[in-house]
Amino acid sequence: MTKRRPLIAGNWKMNLNIDDSINLVREIAAGTDQLEGVDVLVAPPFTALGAVRNAIGDSRIFLAGQNMHWEMSGAYTGEISGMMLKEAGCTHVIIGHSERRSLFKETNQTIDLKVKAATLLGLVPILCIGETLEQREGGQTFEVLKEQLDLSLNNYRSDGIMRHSTILAYEPVWAIGTGKTATPLQAQEVHRFIREWIEESFDTKTASRVRILYGGSVKPDNVKDLMSEQDIDGALVGGASLKEDSFLKLIRFD
Ligand code: 13P
Repeated sequence: MTKRRPLIAGNWKMNLNIDDSINLVREIAAGTDQLEGVDVLVAPPFTALGAVRNAIGDSRIFLAGQNMHWEMSGAYTGEISGMMLKEAGCTHVIIGHSERRSLFKETNQTIDLKVKAATLLGLVPILCIGETLEQREGGQTFEVLKEQLDLSLNNYRSDGIMRHSTILAYEPVWAIGTGKTATPLQAQEVHRFIREWIEESFDTKTASRVRILYGGSVKPDNVKDLMSEQDIDGALVGGASLKEDSFLKLIRFD
C-alpha cells in the first residue's frame, strides 16, 4: 500500500429517492464509525444532497455533487453551480464522468472550466478520465488519456499548479456497469501512466500526493486486489455503492 490515504467513493448516479438516500448514508455512517485509515465519500442525486448532509451529521463521510456548471449563477436552465453544491454541504464534485462525456456531450474544454471553477470555490474536483473499448482495442489508450489529461487540466497546466487534494479517477468506459473490471495489472499500468503525467506536468511531490481512484465494476470480491496495486488509491463505485452491505465491504477492502 502507498502512504496516500485510501478513498472509497460511491457515485449513486440517478438512483435512490430521498428516504432511501438517508437510510443508506445512516447505515454507512454506523458501519464506519470506528473505522480508521480510509476516507469515505458519497455522491447522491442533487435532490437528496441536503437531506444526506443532515443525515451525515458529525460522521466523517464526505459529500460530493455528481456534476456542476462552471458559472456561479445565471440563465442556465437545468444546471447547478459549484456555489450551490457548497451551500448544500458538498466538499467534492465529480467532473467529466464518462456518462457526462458520452450521453451529454461534455468536452474536455468545458470539463476544464468546471475543474477550474470547482477549485476556485474550494470544492475538490474528482476528475474522471477513461478510454472506450474501441480505443483500447485500437491501441489508443494512452494517447486518449493523455489528451483528456492535457485538455481537462489545461488551466492547471497554465498556472503550473495542481493542488495535492485534487482527485483523479480512471474509469475505463468498457468496465462501467458491465461487470468487466480492468485487471489489477491493467489498472496499475494506467495509474502509473497518470502519475507520470502529473510528475511531468507539475512535479514529483504533486505526483506522489494526488490520489488516483479506479472505477468500473468494483465489487467486494475484486477490490482487495485492485487496492493492493501501488498507484491505486481508492475506488469510485457505481452499482455496488447502492447497498450498505456491499459498500461497507468495499470500505473494508483489506
Ligand atoms: P459501476 O461500479 O456500476 O461499474 O460504475 C462505475 C462508475 O461509473 C462510478 O463512477
